[in-house]
Amino acid sequence: MNTLDAIAARRSIRRFKSDPLDRATIERLLDAAIQAPSGKNRQPWRFVVLTEDARTHLAELIEQSCEAIRDQGGNVGSAPATAAIIRQAPATVVFFGLPIPEEWKGFEGARMIDVQGISAAIQNVCLAAVDLDLGSLWIADIFYAHDAVVEWLGRPEEDLVAALSIGHPDESPDARPRRSVDESTDWMATID
Ligand SMILES: Cc1cc2nc3c(=O)[nH]c(=O)nc-3n(C[C@H](O)[C@H](O)[C@H](O)COP(=O)(O)O)c2cc1C
Repeated sequence: MNTLDAIAARRSIRRFKSDPLDRATIERLLDAAIQAPSGKNRQPWRFVVLTEDARTHLAELIEQSCEAIRDQGGNVGSAPATAAIIRQAPATVVFFGLPIPEEWKGFEGARMIDVQGISAAIQNVCLAAVDLDLGSLWIADIFYAHDAVVEWLGRPEEDLVAALSIGHPDESPDARPRRSVDESTDWMATID
């Protein structure tokens, strides 16, 4: 598939068929992830692939955290709906960032640089999924259960960056609106 076609066809998928994903397919997607560029080629990503009961437990942790936040009068936004999607998708990959190396400590941009590489890896998976007729949902709502997830997965030294649910799509949503290139861009050719 042409890259521009994959970019145009990608959607956030929020309904998945129950068909499982085999390990070889998930490895193909992660192989696309590791081709991403990263600052100093640090490849700062770590992937935790959750399937079956493990992915259900992730959904439970988000639901429990949402309940606790609500009990305190807090707002949980779309997180319960996202937890239900995680329950339904056959696989969810949790993306972590490796600890910042000694030589980058004190350099303000370090964490942002690593997050950019990890985001590129996530987008590679989203596009590779399109090529394999799969769907994906990039998930930030996992942050509602940040501490519980980090503790459960035993990665206190790493940064939780995002989750990505993957599976066979059971919907074909229309493209969501975008601001135009014109609205999003300022052009500069001179310096006055
Ligand atoms: C960093 C990031 C976090 C996101 N988190 C969530 C989420 O937690 N739950 C959800 O349903 N969608 C989430 N999305 C999906 C966005 O809502 C979606 O990308 C956006 O509405 C545009 O739709 P499209 O992906 O179909 O083009 C996230 C997307 C990104 C890039």
